[in-house]
Amino acid sequence: MDLYEYQARDMFEKHGVPVLPGIVAETPAEARAAAEQLGGVVVVKAQVKVGGRGKAGGVKVAKTPDEAEAYAEAILGMDIKGHTVHRVMIAAGAAIAEEFYFSVLLDRAERRYLAMCSVEGGMEIEQLAVERPDALAKVAVDPLVGIDRAKAEEIVDTAGFPAELREAVIDTIEKLWLVYKNEDATLVEVNPLVRTEDGSIIALDGKVTIDENALFRHADHAALEDKAAADPLEAKAKHMNLNYVKLDGSVGIIGNGAGLVMSTLDVVAYAGREFGGQKPANFLDIGGGASAEVMANGLDVILHDPQVKSVFVNVFGGITSCVAVADGIVGALEALGDKATKPLVVRLDGNAVEDGRAILAHADHPLVTIVETMDGAAAKAAELAAAAA
Ligand SMILES: Nc1ncnc2c1ncn2[C@@H]1O[C@H](COP(=O)(O)OP(=O)(O)OP(=O)(O)O)[C@@H](O)[C@H]1O
Ligand SMILES: [Mg+2]
Repeated sequence: MDLYEYQARDMFEKHGVPVLPGIVAETPAEARAAAEQLGGVVVVKAQVKVGGRGKAGGVKVAKTPDEAEAYAEAILGMDIKGHTVHRVMIAAGAAIAEEFYFSVLLDRAERRYLAMCSVEGGMEIEQLAVERPDALAKVAVDPLVGIDRAKAEEIVDTAGFPAELREAVIDTIEKLWLVYKNEDATLVEVNPLVRTEDGSIIALDGKVTIDENALFRHADHAALEDKAAADPLEAKAKHMNLNYVKLDGSVGIIGNGAGLVMSTLDVVAYAGREFGGQKPANFLDIGGGASAEVMANGLDVILHDPQVKSVFVNVFGGITSCVAVADGIVGALEALGDKATKPLVVRLDGNAVEDGRAILAHADHPLVTIVETMDGAAAKAAELAAAAA
């Protein structure tokens, strides 16, 4: 989960990283009030989870509350690389003398962390990394040790900071490491880390990615989730503990096991070509124990997707037998009653397949078609979706 800059700022502050005051505003009037509260020069900053805001016109220096209001008016609602700006942060203005760069991230390939640091930070860092890679210090970090004082010294010295800034930058990097470690982040990036004219070191822009697998260790991280930006169906599925990803097509998919669901997506996309380019509407893995309740929840989410025209239930009975799965489907359709309106193609195989199919045949639900092969079922589901379109 990527955080907004203002959330990263708050996290930095919590761990003692030097930051400037910042206030979030959702309207030009709030931006003006924030500028008045902060006093002096402020910076109006678009809050979007994408880089290059400054170059896109989403970061503006305002000398007065009037200017802050006008810039907020211009920036709110702006589209930056496909992200609409719903909030700005009004940040206290810094008198910048120099811009530096620091980041620490998970290096999956090397199974460790990687710290990167440069005395030439700012908006051109990507270009710097390509054109003059030597100017970007890369220091491997042993996950068992982390960034201790010695490692922070190594990073700062490899980057080539001048002696008078050494202590302050080492101290800031040690604190940024606390953010990385204590918050279970997979990325902490500061660009720019600045030296102000009065000689202090400040993190002026922060990017933090939180490891969602560690959410259970951080009760406070749930509040960082951007509920408004999340797809409502994905949010509903998440609430029901379902592994669901919304896609663009018309054929709803339910399967058990991520591998089976992935191949179901492929087979449906392939079969769909014969029927005007029908495509999968979602990924949904209901996992091993496909109880009636889980099946009902899955169908509930999928049937609420207005793009869905047909549903393909593709289950391979393993530990859970096809009897339980068939009971699940019948139970789910009963529970949904009139809410179940779209045709279902069911392909069952594996453990107790004959008994499972017999249950479905016996229930004889008007919306359900049983097809024995995966390819045949995919074609049928695509055909039904095309017919309903
Ligand atoms: N509080 C501030 N005071 C003065 N100048 C600022 C302040 N915040 C940002 N700036 C200036 O604006 C530039 C761009 O800001 P920032 O780094 O936050 O956005 P960005 O780099 O365009 O966004 P991203 O990092 O998402 O690509 C900075 O390099 C800095 O020169
Ligand atoms: Mg930046």
